[in-house]
Amino acid sequence: MKEIKISAPFDMHLHLREGQMLINVLPYTSAVFPRGVVMGNLPIPVDTAEKAIKYKSEILADDVTFNPIMTIMLTRNTTPAIIREAYNHGIKVIKYIPEGVSTNSEYGVPLNKLHEFYEVMETAEELGMILSGHWEAPFNINGNPIEELCREEEAIPFLAAIINCFPKLKIVVEHASTYGMIEYVKNAPNTVAATLTAHHALLDYSDVCDKTGKIIGSDLYCKPIAKKAIDRSAVLQTMISGNPKFFFGSDSAPHYAENKKRTPPAAGIFTAPVVMPLLCEIFDNNNALSKIENFTSRFGPKFYGLPLNEGKITVRREKWTVPYETNGIKIFLGRRELNWKVV
Ligand code: DOR
Ligand code: ZN
Ligand code: ZN
Repeated sequence: MKEIKISAPFDMHLHLREGQMLINVLPYTSAVFPRGVVMGNLPIPVDTAEKAIKYKSEILADDVTFNPIMTIMLTRNTTPAIIREAYNHGIKVIKYIPEGVSTNSEYGVPLNKLHEFYEVMETAEELGMILSGHWEAPFNINGNPIEELCREEEAIPFLAAIINCFPKLKIVVEHASTYGMIEYVKNAPNTVAATLTAHHALLDYSDVCDKTGKIIGSDLYCKPIAKKAIDRSAVLQTMISGNPKFFFGSDSAPHYAENKKRTPPAAGIFTAPVVMPLLCEIFDNNNALSKIENFTSRFGPKFYGLPLNEGKITVRREKWTVPYETNGIKIFLGRRELNWKVV
């Protein structure tokens, strides 16, 4: 096949930041994805309807063609009344990052305190909202750190507890990156789905860290960290499998190069400029191009209860070289040649 024409895709998980960074990165997303779920893990978390409305207007002021699906962050300040207020302002998604797992997660509720927020979950369930979570456990019950490779699977019992208590609550497992989590989601009730990224289908832990765990590829450092071959293969095979519980969320997460050079580096990979061509490459290499539209454009909105995007995009088999960076932000696979291009 020389080119594919598919219903315009959704990015069901991305980070757009604010201010100048937002202005710099949004065009890469909006050129391909008319809609996307925008995460509010800003330095001051987007955890009220008021902040989400303000953030939405900042995004729209920058690009009216993009239709952001807004989220409200679950923080230690969240109450059922705050959730209700957000819902009354059209916000359907609660974003959960446990304390200490990722960028700007200091305000997050630790996994072992999530039970204190069960009234919030009850409200979300009653309203038909979606809980979109970064399910990683950074610490064990003694407060000692869990090694990065195991953090996702260690979070499964906490996730299971929520699923058991709130059987009607729709839950998204963001960026599932392990065989164990993917199997868990496959076997979970239909209220549970997961997003998959392109980078977790392509990267191995050994691309990011050496045998002692030292970070050797800071540009490729993200949370959850890239895992072992069996996990990468599970992400890839699930992505192309046609299972509607799994849909696309890039987790495109821009950081300025200077912050990627710190120790430890800022976690996140800016994939928006390359991600649709990369997905085509992945599906094409696995003789699954006919399934890409479901993954990028249908399964996500179906789970979210949203209409499909209007319009189509065309991706063509055409070589191009990825720019190295944009405005001080390194681009995933910069300087590499890709075989597919969005036209
Ligand atoms: O690598 C990541 N970067 N993982 C996250 O969960 C957050 C994101 C970011 O905001 O930079
Ligand atoms: Zn995350
Ligand atoms: Zn994210």
